[in-house]
Amino acid sequence: MCAYCDRVTRTIDWVDGAVALIDQTRLPDELIVLRVEDVPTLVDSIQRLAVRGAPAIGVAGAFGVVLALSEANFPAAVQELRNARPTAVNLARMVDRVAARAGEGFEAALGEALAIRDEEIAASRLMGERGAEVVDQLVGDGRVRAMTICNTGGLATVERGTALAVIQTLHEAGRLEEALVLETRPLLQGARLTAWELQRLGAPYRLVVDAAAPSLLARGAADVILTGADRVAANGDTANKIGTFGLALGARHADVPFVVVAPESTLDAATPTGAEIEIEDRGAEEVVSLKGVAIAPEGTAAVNPAFDVTPCELITALVTERRVVRLSGGERL
Ligand code: MRU
Repeated sequence: MCAYCDRVTRTIDWVDGAVALIDQTRLPDELIVLRVEDVPTLVDSIQRLAVRGAPAIGVAGAFGVVLALSEANFPAAVQELRNARPTAVNLARMVDRVAARAGEGFEAALGEALAIRDEEIAASRLMGERGAEVVDQLVGDGRVRAMTICNTGGLATVERGTALAVIQTLHEAGRLEEALVLETRPLLQGARLTAWELQRLGAPYRLVVDAAAPSLLARGAADVILTGADRVAANGDTANKIGTFGLALGARHADVPFVVVAPESTLDAATPTGAEIEIEDRGAEEVVSLKGVAIAPEGTAAVNPAFDVTPCELITALVTERRVVRLSGGERL
């Protein structure tokens, strides 16, 4: 492992004049920290999901604008960063926030990016605590079986996470019976990343194939579902990893509370409903192959939406660092 690696404890940070990020494509096999010094490499890291998760790519975009100050064409570099992925609102929002300070010079831009990093860290801790309180209210203060999809832990933010921060908080309070982790095809963020994080935390968990979730819910295997978000529209409709909508439908059928945990930085008042959220299409390759090995006949076409939209009526509560909004009860942002 590189000498640099043991100095990096966060998923993403600014270290010695460059962006340091854990290469999430290498987990769980290897923990590698990349040093990223230019915008094209950072854009590539975002697009191939070396850094991923809405808050983490927001922080990446923020640091990216600082790197863009050294690029020959600053506006073009900023645009490239902004457009690296379309669905999570955090990316464009944080790029714009730091770009607005760029005229004041390097130190002002870096200060803004570091403030964004620190805000996400503080938000994660508060979401964990507030989310655990909401779980108490919804399912009682005994031991909890929580189902989750994708990866919403420290890897998806800077530290601790969103929905997984709630699970971590419950675990630290001795209240986590188990986490049921959906594997999250096609890129297996649940199996590769959430399982890795829970194992490091010493938290009890079992992995579940995505298709098993509705029937497990119907058989009473989980008390609550905790998910993250990539963009929450003004009416509360929520874009998150593909499979989340199906999970919400299964939860409604089984009368299991469905809780979205996301920082205020993921709320998008400018997008009226989920219908206006752009869903990233990641192409066929990720569907027809697994870790580079073909799993379908050559020439097979595939559809690969990376996200779906869960209608607000199916969301029992949205938990941010500042508030709890009972969406299915008719409350609005
Ligand atoms: O494609 P990804 O891995 O970036 O998708 C991530 C998710 O869908 C997460 O659930 C979401 O960003 C919330 S992360 C705290």
